[in-house]
Amino acid sequence: MLDIQMVPPCLRRSGYAQAGTRLLQCPRRFFFSVLCNVRDLHSAWINRRAFLTGVKCMEEYRLHPLLSQKQIASIVQDLANQISKDYRGKELVLVCILKGAFMFLSDLVRHLEIPVKIDFVRLASYGSGTKTSGRIEITKDLELPIQDKDVLIVEDIIDSGHTLQFLKDRIILSNPRSVKICALLDKKARREVAMEADYLGIDVEDVFIVGYGIDFNENYRNLPEIYYVTPIHHSRE
Ligand code: IMP
Ligand code: MG
Repeated sequence: MLDIQMVPPCLRRSGYAQAGTRLLQCPRRFFFSVLCNVRDLHSAWINRRAFLTGVKCMEEYRLHPLLSQKQIASIVQDLANQISKDYRGKELVLVCILKGAFMFLSDLVRHLEIPVKIDFVRLASYGSGTKTSGRIEITKDLELPIQDKDVLIVEDIIDSGHTLQFLKDRIILSNPRSVKICALLDKKARREVAMEADYLGIDVEDVFIVGYGIDFNENYRNLPEIYYVTPIHHSRE
């Protein structure tokens, strides 16, 4: 059966019917566009292999495309533009929450047009399954001084809100000039504590996300696109 990940993004975006029309209208241009996507096709094959060789329970799950590389790039560029504008002339320290936000951070900083310092924290949250208990500990702390600096926390997903509430409260104890939050994705339906991003990529529904740094049991962080995961028996494909 043809899997969506085996199809070049140019076909995925336009749909098979439109691709057929383009092929008939201008075969040379169509084949050129397919050739241009050979790299994407290759990475789609690698991703497919990653999917098939994932952890054992992965056999019961399927990945569905949610955001393409192009869509992510546009979201990240917009966020970087806003941040560059708002923090011009300030002493900005970006605090990236490991590991999920590493890819987002690395793309975001490349688009910033202002000087910036970068630091990382790693947090462990305790709970069962997909539910956090709200009990969080720092397993890798900040290394840069943040007193009197403008701190911007960079997070992949806001879910219950506990992680960001914990980190923000802890950062405030070091007397920064300001603390704000930049999150790529927000699952508002899952919120347990009041927490809003000052800079937000997009809202997503209550689905489990992987790719672009975000994992499921440490798998799929390397995927350049963002997917949501469903158990195979719930899939309509
Ligand atoms: P919160 O404390 O419940 O807001 O959880 C936020 C953290 O949970 C994020 O930093 C992610 O690492 C993780 N997380 C939340 N939703 C997902 C998801 O759909 N996929 C992977 N990780 C997630
Ligand atoms: Mg995280």
